[in-house]
Amino acid sequence: MSKYICKKPGKKSVDIIFRDRKVVSSSYNREYSFVFKKGKGMHLWDVDGRKYLDFAASVAVNSVGHANSEVIKAVKKQMKDGFHCAFPDFYAEIPVNFIENLLKFVPKHLNNVFLSNSGTESNECALKLAKWHTNKKWLIASDICFHGRSMGSLSMTNSKKVQRERFNPFLPVKHVPYPYFYRSKFEDEEDLSNHCLDAWEKSIKKLKKELAAVFLEPISGEGGYVVPPKSFVKGLRKACDKYDVLLVSDEIQAGCYRTGKFLAIENYNVKADIVSLSKAIGGGIPLGVTLANKKTMDWIPGSHSTTFGGNLLACVSGMATLNYMRKHKLGDNALKIGNYMMKRLNEMKDQYDVIGDVRGKGLMIGVEIVEDKRSKNYGIKERHSILCKASEKGLVLLGCGNNVIRMCPPLIINKKQADYGLDLFEDAVKDIPK
Ligand SMILES: Cc1ncc(COP(=O)(O)O)c(C=O)c1O
Repeated sequence: MSKYICKKPGKKSVDIIFRDRKVVSSSYNREYSFVFKKGKGMHLWDVDGRKYLDFAASVAVNSVGHANSEVIKAVKKQMKDGFHCAFPDFYAEIPVNFIENLLKFVPKHLNNVFLSNSGTESNECALKLAKWHTNKKWLIASDICFHGRSMGSLSMTNSKKVQRERFNPFLPVKHVPYPYFYRSKFEDEEDLSNHCLDAWEKSIKKLKKELAAVFLEPISGEGGYVVPPKSFVKGLRKACDKYDVLLVSDEIQAGCYRTGKFLAIENYNVKADIVSLSKAIGGGIPLGVTLANKKTMDWIPGSHSTTFGGNLLACVSGMATLNYMRKHKLGDNALKIGNYMMKRLNEMKDQYDVIGDVRGKGLMIGVEIVEDKRSKNYGIKERHSILCKASEKGLVLLGCGNNVIRMCPPLIINKKQADYGLDLFEDAVKDIPK
């Protein structure tokens, strides 16, 4: 067992972890020893029969809850008529139905869609589209961004050293600072916003003749669940307009009502030229979506495609997921429960020296763990301890950034479940070895 495995799990879990170690790529980064058996709604069970409350939603994927019955019904019905139809080569109604439905959820200018299978692919599509449309090569992205791990999106990804090490050469990308208030030298968030905007605008101006697009996570995900000031996102849009540059909003983690609005960038009253979605949109079946205006999506047949784009099971699952989200007003619930959780977490922040910062929007909440509030030293051991203790107590959490715990439960969570999970979290904080 490596140092990353928490207190010894049950026998079946241990057996599977050992088998996994022999045959599975060592590049996956498992933080603790939860071994999945099944999921339903807000809950997960491990192979030893232990029940957990899920505050991670398989990394913001299972927003409509695990094994959602309406998604199951839609997928089962479609399975009888076929799983896949080579949509990039032939025509089919199901992917068109899905796209037409999706367009009702997004701002009107986004009226053309490319379908793929994952987050990284939807960003590959976004960046290739920007390059095609502008016939330019450079990209700008933030210093803590995560846009995926295939070579195009990885050229931007910069949230951890290990993600890039040995993988160069990369596409030409200029990284500029994301407004990360808690870790900045500024006392006023607006000063930080202006400082960062200045850096982004200078880079846009300098590169404009060769710049294909600016990529932005409207809330940074893997980089630490950092929420930029409204003035920053608005200012960035202005700078892109001033220099006639495309703005791409990577909504792969923050999109699909996680922050209350369907697109996270809508929280800033800003429109992106290209939007990438994945994770929650497929309801648990791999699905990537890239949206733009038809005038931007002006590439020619053969310039971009993928075998599984428009996969029938993914499309019916996506359709059922969207309908469920709308019917059950999951955006409203994300805001209501998210605000409540933030309030309780802020109370904990006042009480525990290891909780340095609490931030987020809706049900995308980051809790930054430090050695102590004064030093703000990264609480790496402390975070690991909280993740392990919480899982031992029956709460599934995930980390992000160097020392942040992310809380991104399914959007169906109710107040009682939120309270129960936060009680377990607080117990895990109290249990950090002194
Ligand atoms: C904002 C963002 N973009 C892109 C990706 C990459 O998605 P995938 O892992 O499906 O390729 C992720 C995954 O965590 C993400 O959070």
